[in-house]
Amino acid sequence: HPTAARSPADAITVQGENTIYTDEYITSKFINRGADVVVQEGGRYVIKPTVTPFEFRTQRKVPRTGLMLVGIGGNNGTTLVATILANRHNIAWHTKSTIQRPNYIGSLLRASTIRLGLDETGKDVYAPLSDLLPMVHPNDLVLGGWDISGAPLDAAMKRAAVLEWDLQRQVAPYLKQLGAPLPSIYYPDYIAANQEDRADNVIPGTNKGAHLEQIRKDIRDFKAANNLDQVIVFWTANTERYSEIIPGVNDTAEAILASIENSHEEVAPSTVFAVASILEGAPFINGAPQNTFVPGVIKLAEQYKSFIGGDDLKSGQTKLKSVLAEFLVNAGIKPLSIASYNHLGNNDGRNLSSQRQFRSKEISKSSVVDDMVAANHLLYKTKAEVEAEQEASTGEKVKDVKGEHPDHIVVIKYVPAVGDSKRAIDEYYSEIMGGGRSTINIFNECEDSLLATPLILDLTILAELLTRVNYRELTNGPDADFKPLYPVLSLLSYMLKAPLVKPGTDVVNSLSRQRNALEMFLKACIGLEGSSDLLLETRIW
Ligand code: NAI
Repeated sequence: HPTAARSPADAITVQGENTIYTDEYITSKFINRGADVVVQEGGRYVIKPTVTPFEFRTQRKVPRTGLMLVGIGGNNGTTLVATILANRHNIAWHTKSTIQRPNYIGSLLRASTIRLGLDETGKDVYAPLSDLLPMVHPNDLVLGGWDISGAPLDAAMKRAAVLEWDLQRQVAPYLKQLGAPLPSIYYPDYIAANQEDRADNVIPGTNKGAHLEQIRKDIRDFKAANNLDQVIVFWTANTERYSEIIPGVNDTAEAILASIENSHEEVAPSTVFAVASILEGAPFINGAPQNTFVPGVIKLAEQYKSFIGGDDLKSGQTKLKSVLAEFLVNAGIKPLSIASYNHLGNNDGRNLSSQRQFRSKEISKSSVVDDMVAANHLLYKTKAEVEAEQEASTGEKVKDVKGEHPDHIVVIKYVPAVGDSKRAIDEYYSEIMGGGRSTINIFNECEDSLLATPLILDLTILAELLTRVNYRELTNGPDADFKPLYPVLSLLSYMLKAPLVKPGTDVVNSLSRQRNALEMFLKACIGLEGSSDLLLETRIW
């Protein structure tokens, strides 16, 4: 039965000197092995291996956790609520060909496995990723949230037209019990004008300071009313336009707080939600592409040691792109252009038919191949090489030079007829040996909200888990204090199109590297080290 609770801490036990179990914690030792590299003249590399001992400590008790969705009445919001209720109440439904049971397919945590090692016969053993450490089960999440549309959740699910009718019919009474969304913050300038007729459930007034206080109160009230230990706040509302970054307005923690107090026009609704969550100590995740996390918000999160993650769910086309682009570049093939077309007919598509909102999406979709291209200077000229080349030909220093890069375009069109079933068409046009050309065309039909919903669950559950993991560096002596992780949760990158990372560090877009990082981190927390793909035992006598 999907609700059958089993303590994951009992599912996997590591018996080794690096792992200690107490009732309260799993504590593990981990050696972080790195390399300091010096690149010398003539392309010579001198490397010093580094060894840093760490200890991780994970709280075993899974807190009673609430998930508050901003945009709960939308396609993702209602699909998520209905899916959890269907799983919780074990509702099966008829399709035209079969009886379908609820599940969490598409969730990395609930539907994928991790290789643990070999059994006594030498065969690989895999376990569900969710068994690695104690994690919240999606069925146990207490659900609530806000929407500028006041439609009760059963009506909102019907409006979304994502789920099969026979499921909608059976799950509707449970959604009805959840009632209508809380009123939300609506600044018309931030989303497309075509959304205006939806906005019938808004917190009155234009005072952003008062709005902030209302959202903080909503989070506190929800926590108290449901007797929760933890609340995660998740933005799955419409894509907003970008906020302008203005010194003194949103570049520091003090500035952003003051700008909310003064109701400055460059503070977006999503930023008010992020700030409210940070001040309440509730992890906040941005599932849409806009720049909610202006520099001042990141600094505020640092100040409050409150967790944030984003941006933009990576569900279909971009996920595939982060695999294909890496495959090509790592295979030594040189993509010259990547051209992506989308059309979709849901409300998200309607909102994105407006230029400023589309621009946010375009930015978040565009950077996805950057790190893979930068990783291969054999195929692509680096910035310095392009600079030198241009200087040699023009005889002067050229400004704003970029490294060589494939042409990359993203087009999104609103086609109401296809509804939530997004079509994504990508062409990868590459140079192969001897000046040859290779073209790969992908046509990807994504049922958008059914792909996005499991990602919301993964992000929520991982964010909660990461609040319970503390670490200390053992180089600071055996008595060093345990500390929480850095507030920007870049370990969530696998599910995100434009991963937010610690300022000054590199973004990793490669899907396989993102998964590896997460796997290795979770394994490190139970005292397992090393890359399982070496399979050394299969390569020696
Ligand atoms: P949707 O348009 O169906 O739902 C958004 C909901 O947010 C609507 O109910 C709207 O009334 C509400 N809303 C707008 N502004 C609000 C505010 N200030 N406060 C509270 N509620 C507000 O869109 P959908 O398909 O659910 O997508 C949600 C977001 O997730 C979009 O930004 C989309 O770009 C992003 N996303 C979706 C993916 C997918 O595959 N479905 C993938 C990647 C990102």
